[in-house]
Amino acid sequence: MTLPLNPATSLSGTVLLPGDKSISHRYAMLAAIAEGTSTIEYFAASRDCHSTLECLQSLGVEARQRGQTVTIKGRGLRGLKAPAHVLDAGNSGTTIRLLSGILAGHPFESLITGDESLSNRPMGRVIRPLQMMGADIESRERELPPLRIRGGSLKGIRYSLPVASAQVKSCVLFAGLYGDASTAVEETIPTRDHSEIALREFGGTLRIQGNWIEVDPGPTLQGRHLVVPGDLSGAAFFLVAAALVPNSELLLPGVGLNGRRRELLDYLLRAGLNIKVENETAIAGEPRGDLRVRYSQELLQRPLPPIQGEQVANLIDEIPVLAVLGAQASGGLTISDAHELRVKESDRISAIVTNLRAMGIEVEEKADGLSMPGGQQLQGADIVTRNDHRIAMAFAVAALAARGETRIHNPECADVSFPGFWTALRNVIAM
Ligand code: S3P
Repeated sequence: MTLPLNPATSLSGTVLLPGDKSISHRYAMLAAIAEGTSTIEYFAASRDCHSTLECLQSLGVEARQRGQTVTIKGRGLRGLKAPAHVLDAGNSGTTIRLLSGILAGHPFESLITGDESLSNRPMGRVIRPLQMMGADIESRERELPPLRIRGGSLKGIRYSLPVASAQVKSCVLFAGLYGDASTAVEETIPTRDHSEIALREFGGTLRIQGNWIEVDPGPTLQGRHLVVPGDLSGAAFFLVAAALVPNSELLLPGVGLNGRRRELLDYLLRAGLNIKVENETAIAGEPRGDLRVRYSQELLQRPLPPIQGEQVANLIDEIPVLAVLGAQASGGLTISDAHELRVKESDRISAIVTNLRAMGIEVEEKADGLSMPGGQQLQGADIVTRNDHRIAMAFAVAALAARGETRIHNPECADVSFPGFWTALRNVIAM
C-alpha cells in the first residue's frame, strides 16, 4: 500500500498516544514471573508489545487483553512452562533481548526468533553476559536469531556493558533474578531505567551506586495494578510536526516523562520549541504530564544543537524525526556517535539519508551519523520505509512540511509502535 500525504497548513487538537512500549514490555514480563494477578491499564497497543504477550502465553502465562487493559496471572519467578513451539518476537528487539534474560533462568529449552528485520539484529550483546552467568545459548551464524536457550540456576556476575543499551542492561538484570548471588551491571552511559523502576515496583531489591546497578536474586515479586503512561517516542512525531507546520497547537495528554527519556523534551526546548508541561504527576515511579506544543516562528531560524555523545543513547528512537526537523532548520543539523542506529529495525542512518535525499535535501552520510547544511526545503517524494515504523512516521512528518505530494510506501509498518498513527495524524490536520 502507498499513502499519499500533502503539506499541512496547520495542526490542531488533542493526540491520544499509545501506552509506552518500553514500559508495557517490562510490566508484562515482570507480571508473568510475579505471584498473583496484575492488571495493566493503558497497555501499549503496539504490535511489538503484542509479540511479548504472545510469547508469554506460549510459556504458559494466562494473559488477557480487554480494550487497553491487560490482565496477567503470574506464575511465580520459576514458574514458566516449556513452550510447545518456537517463540516469535516478531519485530521486537525488546521482546527477544529481555525475555532471553528470563528464559536463561528456566531449566527448559526454548527457541526464540523474529521477523526478517529482527533476524538480522545483533544478539552477541545478550549472549555473552548470559553465557558468563552459566546459561547455554546457541544462535545462528554471526550471533543472529533464532536463539536456542537452555537455562537454570545462574551465577551472579559483575558486568560492564560494552554498548549503551537499556535492552542489554535489562536482560542481565532480569537474569540476575535467577543468580546464586547478586548481579551488578555497570553502564558508562546511562540509558532508560524503566526496568529498575519496574523491578522495585514489583518488590525486587535493587541497589544503585554511581554507574553500578545491583539486583538481588530470588525475590518473590508481587502482582500489581499499574497504569502505563503515553509513549513519549510516539509523541515526538507530533511535537516535531507542530514545530514545522505554522499556526499549530497540539495537546498530548498523559505522556511518560521518565528522566532518561525526557532528553527529547530538553533537546527540543533547547532548540527553541514552545512546549509547556502541565499536570505533572508520577504513577508507580514513572513521571508523566500533559504536553502542549505551539508553533514558534523563530525556531527554524536558529541553529539546532548538534546531537552527539552521551545524549544519543537517550534520544536513540527519536533521531529519525529530529533529522527531519534538522532538514528544515536554517542552521542544519549534525548527528554523531549514533552507530547504534545502524542496527535498529533498519539501518536508520542509511534510511534517513536515502529518504532525505529523495526529498531534495543535501546530506552527508557518516559512519556514526549525518550532517546537513541549513537553509533547505523538503520536497514531496516517494518514501521507502524499509518496513521500519519510525522511518514511516518521521517521513510522514516531513511530508507535512514539504512542497508537493509525498507518498509513504508500506505505511502499515507504523503499527509496530503506534497503531492508529495515521488516524491520529489525519485528525489534527486542519482542512
Ligand atoms: C528499548 C531500548 C532501546 C530502544 C528500543 C527500546 C527498551 O534499544 O531503541 O526501541 O525498551 O529498552 P537499546 O537499548 O538496545 O538501544
